[in-house]
Amino acid sequence: MKHTVTTVRRQKSEGGKIAMLTVYDYSTAKLMDAAGIEILLVGDSLGNTVLGYPDTLSVTMEDMIHHSGAVARGTENALVVTDMPFMSYQASVYDAVTNAGRLVKEGRAQAVKLEGGRNFCQHIKAITEAQIPVMAHLGLTPQSVNAFGGFKVQGKDDETAVNLIDDALAVEAAGAFALVLECVPTELAALVTGLLSIPTIGIGAGGGTDGQVLVYQDMLAMYGGKSPKFAKVFADVGALMQGGFRAYLEETKNGAFPDEAHGFCIDPGVMGAAREHAGRAAAGARTKKEKETQLQ
Ligand code: KIV
Repeated sequence: MKHTVTTVRRQKSEGGKIAMLTVYDYSTAKLMDAAGIEILLVGDSLGNTVLGYPDTLSVTMEDMIHHSGAVARGTENALVVTDMPFMSYQASVYDAVTNAGRLVKEGRAQAVKLEGGRNFCQHIKAITEAQIPVMAHLGLTPQSVNAFGGFKVQGKDDETAVNLIDDALAVEAAGAFALVLECVPTELAALVTGLLSIPTIGIGAGGGTDGQVLVYQDMLAMYGGKSPKFAKVFADVGALMQGGFRAYLEETKNGAFPDEAHGFCIDPGVMGAAREHAGRAAAGARTKKEKETQLQ
């Protein structure tokens, strides 16, 4: 079944939970799509997980288009949502619509995600009016790391809790089809979820949201960096990969790899002729070298 913004919205009214994962490349997208993950998010977290930056601020439109295209080519059924990177929409509504359009046109995204609440409702409205669905993102919005003074749980005091509620209602009114809530206390996320008709997708926001999202390297223990508290490891793929790399190293060093089964055979007649030719060619090369030495 093809997942779209319509089926995702319907899941909320039918009470089903939505499963979303981040992904940045073709082959992993194919695996997730085949597993039935409903939304593949080409997150700007690729700045951390793929490109090795300490945050998402240096990620460019070109980075996002490049990875979004790879994910879209590996996806048949999931809805592909691509993040708008830092400063691709903040400066103006014009930038927001133009860059959202590039993610769809060049990166084959089916929807875009952007961080922010009431300050970005004009942007959400304009992108939506351009027929590009928008997923909003509130709570710990990593592009605001410098304004927040670090990566901190949001909505823990009166002011930020009230702001979160007002921002959530505002992005829904502006036309967002779904809302990511990142690092928000469980009860507050559940309260916001109950207030909205659009689905909420939580990451570090407890079990009361309409869906969950994780960074896939976190849930597969593949990320050498510091994984957050909420990131449950579902399979220790990181350890499996390291084991595979070590075994390859050992067999390459001791000659066990490649064995006969991993090579190609040749017709004995062709090989005999190749040997004869090699003998003649080597003799010819020797003679040529001797003549050149005599001439010096
Ligand atoms: O970029 C990302 O991976 C995200 C998720 C954390 C929701 O925005």
